[in-house]
Amino acid sequence: MDKEELMQTAITARKNAYVPYSHFAVGAAVISADGRVFSGANIENASYGITMCAERNAIFAAACAGVREISALAVVADTDGGVAPCGACRQAMTEFMGAQTPVYLGNLHGTIDTTTVTELLPGAFNKEDMHNA
Ligand code: THU
Repeated sequence: MDKEELMQTAITARKNAYVPYSHFAVGAAVISADGRVFSGANIENASYGITMCAERNAIFAAACAGVREISALAVVADTDGGVAPCGACRQAMTEFMGAQTPVYLGNLHGTIDTTTVTELLPGAFNKEDMHNA
């Protein structure tokens, strides 16, 4: 699956966003190292703080199916440029994505900016930081 197809999967997933409060719909999709595709959308709640972002819903759907290595992630929203993932999602990406794993930031007008989790969250906390525990 190429980046356009993964982005299209994210655009389709975005249709299921539940956003009665922000009205800002986000979709995301990941592909695992063994070729499986998972998607997610943001799901809000009347208790605003428990809202879950699209990226984490996609990542956690993959993880719940046993995925421990993600090969690419796409995220999309109705933004002028490629949508910027929030800090919590950048940290969540760090768990299952390598330094060079592509992250595609898209919008509804065909923008696909390619970056990496290392660029998005330099110096991220990760499992290596706990080796003295
Ligand atoms: N949102 C995401 O789904 N992903 C992000 O990385 C940024 C924010 C959602 C959360 C909330 O439902 C809405 O966008 C506005 O913050």
